[in-house]
Amino acid sequence: MSTSTQADVNITKYLSANKERFMNELFDLLRIPSVSADSKFKADVQRTAEFLKEKLIAAGADKVEVCPTAGHPIVYGEKMVDPSWPTILVYGHYDVQPADPYELWNSPPFEPVIKDGKIYARGACDDKGQMYMHVKAFEALMANDSLSCNVKFMIEGEEEIGSDNLEIFVKNNKEKLKADMVLISDTSIISNETPSITVGLRGLSYLEVEVTGPNRDLHSGAYGGAVANPINVLCQMIASLHDENNRITIPGFYEKVQEMTEAYRKQLNESPFNLDEYKKELDIADVRGEKGYTTLERTGIRPTLDVNGIWGGYTGEGAKTVLPSKAFAKISMRLVPDQDNKEITELFTKHFKAIAPKSVKVEVRPHHGGQPAVVPTDSVEYRAASLAFEEAWGKTPVPTRDGGSIPIVSLFQKELGLNSVLLGFGLDTDAIHSPNENFGVFNFYKGIETIILFHKHYAACKK
Ligand code: BES
Ligand code: MN
Ligand code: MN
Repeated sequence: MSTSTQADVNITKYLSANKERFMNELFDLLRIPSVSADSKFKADVQRTAEFLKEKLIAAGADKVEVCPTAGHPIVYGEKMVDPSWPTILVYGHYDVQPADPYELWNSPPFEPVIKDGKIYARGACDDKGQMYMHVKAFEALMANDSLSCNVKFMIEGEEEIGSDNLEIFVKNNKEKLKADMVLISDTSIISNETPSITVGLRGLSYLEVEVTGPNRDLHSGAYGGAVANPINVLCQMIASLHDENNRITIPGFYEKVQEMTEAYRKQLNESPFNLDEYKKELDIADVRGEKGYTTLERTGIRPTLDVNGIWGGYTGEGAKTVLPSKAFAKISMRLVPDQDNKEITELFTKHFKAIAPKSVKVEVRPHHGGQPAVVPTDSVEYRAASLAFEEAWGKTPVPTRDGGSIPIVSLFQKELGLNSVLLGFGLDTDAIHSPNENFGVFNFYKGIETIILFHKHYAACKK
């Protein structure tokens, strides 16, 4: 256990003296609707990048720039103090998911408020709140002359739409991005009583399917029963993608899945998890998933397939008797090591076309995807993260596998040869991507402290 130095005391004082300003700045950031998926918000996305640029400069970063891409810009900034120090590359995203449906929010998504110790706004947790902790941690270290690592910031505006342009940026800027590791706060912990470090993320294959029946909408009485209804057919096709054990029926789908050892599964299942509370919180009478696996395994180490949206025909008020011409669905598959997202997209496409009856035409259009990622726990980086949690939270963090995806993690590994530390501070109950997204005020401040301690321990561990 490290003892506190004068510098630690100064930082603690600085954090408490600037607490309110930090929160006010986060509120300003949350007020800008930086929805990357919707071109209507393009100017707001740009404005968010400019906002961050200013804040990085104010915190003391050099070479701060808003780097244009074919899509939304990437904000870069750095503080290179000493080439003999280790360099941390901080990655985060300033874009957010669409806030729809607005009517389900208890307060407007881009008018942040604090209620019961939680900050409510779109992006409060994912990822503005978490990303901004790094800017404030850096500011506090700079202001107290306590930086112990070089720092580079790379904050993108397209994470929620697949990071396509970041991939190009990373490939073209390998020298600029040279570092010893990547530090990311964009995941969650088990609970505030049980801090954890994410060591695995699932990959993703996301696509859209279109099923076409007759060349126009038909009268469902005049033609019903004689011509294929593309919605009926699509539902049957989708239903056939799982068998009675809830395993996915696409041939070859599980071929590359790494089966975990019994010892690993046992360890994973030792993480605190209460199935009754889980069900209660979601208001469901039972869970459902692949036979033979626990809930933690189903989201952590097993691949899945889900329909994210389905539409077609008449959905307006009242009734319209129609046999529609077309039906659509958006489908996501979450992947685990060593599945490859491009291969899985191909397997799906081939299978989906193969099971289509002759009475319809099927088109499959891939969207974005990403590879699964696993980060080592026997590394200097993990040790520093563990020590930071121990000092800030008084508890040794538990390694966990999250079900979500951050495609860029595997890209950093492949293109830059860098391991990431997923130092997240969200909670599963933060409702990311949902109405009433929130982030604990406690988590925001505790996260800043933990990040500062990570810098300290990482520098010490690297010596
Ligand atoms: N921060 C999330 C990923 C996440 C959420 C990881 C919860 C761990 C726990 C990220 O912003 C996200 O939403 N990713 C997308 C994938 C992306 C390609 C759109 C996802 O997981 O759906
Ligand atoms: Mn995120
Ligand atoms: Mn997200």
